[in-house]
Amino acid sequence: MNLQRYLEKRSQLVDRALTRVLPKRTSLPTKLDDAMRYSLFSGGKRIRPILALASGEAVGAPVAHIMPFACALEMIHSYSLVHDDLPAMDDDDLRRGQPTNHIVFGEAMAILAGDGLLTEAFRVMAEGALRLGKNPAAALRAVQEIAIGAGAMGMVGGQVADLEAEQKKPTRTLVDYIHTRKTAALLRASVRAGALVGGASPRQFARLDEYGAAIGLAFQVADDILDVEGETAKTGKRAGRDAELQKVTYPAAVGMKKAKARARELLHEALAALQSFPVAADPLREIAKFVVERAVPRAT
Ligand code: IPE
Ligand code: IPE
Ligand code: MG
Ligand code: MG
Ligand code: MG
Repeated sequence: MNLQRYLEKRSQLVDRALTRVLPKRTSLPTKLDDAMRYSLFSGGKRIRPILALASGEAVGAPVAHIMPFACALEMIHSYSLVHDDLPAMDDDDLRRGQPTNHIVFGEAMAILAGDGLLTEAFRVMAEGALRLGKNPAAALRAVQEIAIGAGAMGMVGGQVADLEAEQKKPTRTLVDYIHTRKTAALLRASVRAGALVGGASPRQFARLDEYGAAIGLAFQVADDILDVEGETAKTGKRAGRDAELQKVTYPAAVGMKKAKARARELLHEALAALQSFPVAADPLREIAKFVVERAVPRAT
């Protein structure tokens, strides 16, 4: 399969669905509406929604069933970036090649735009679950998974650990603790939600979950590597911020060579988890390679 084409098509589908669930609304304060839409429609890779759709696809589910959950995942991700960039957190002024939300709209509006995106994600999931009708239990479980992945036990807790670690010695144990929560938890929840709404069997679910855990962690290892080696022109983020902020990253904890080896190892784990799946899981396989090879090309 042609991954580039697949990602383009899927992100167009996701964008169209996001426009439907979050249209321009004159009933909202204009600045809030603008701030929410500024960050939601600013050209992200849409990896979380695409993973949810691909996970559903691997077990034969129609895209339409998964889409509300996919949209919600992107809205939650988008909120997490707006807050992550705030002066009180990573204090970043560039995201996806554009000024960050608080630079354009001010801090208070950025906080509230994040709150709006997070809360409305749950409206979108509720509406999706109501439309699904016949299988409310699976939809409710997906909502639960996403809440766990995004909340205090997952991403929010991980962000706290990430900030507190700025004063700490980078160790492998600490970086694994942070990364499994701040980033892997939501990516893993994306795969789990797609599998649940898609009607995966317990066996399929367990395998897909292994895949999600491996690729979720690999994603942040790759992000750490790109913070050191990537170019701002390509990543759309200021390079070298992690070192400036003394973040506990994979390269800081184990060195660049081992960080790259770990990313490759996690890719193997992700692919191994999918061994029993047919070609319907090829998108998941290709996405995993893409995530790792963006930061660690095959030749290195
Ligand atoms: C960036 O996520 C934040 C991390 C969890 C590393 P992405 O790399 O998915 O960001 P966008 O949405 O494509 O900009
Ligand atoms: C992001 O980690 C984790 C989130 C939950 C947003 P980073 O702080 O490394 O993400 P970037 O590099 O700013 O995108
Ligand atoms: Mg951060
Ligand atoms: Mg950051
Ligand atoms: Mg980063």
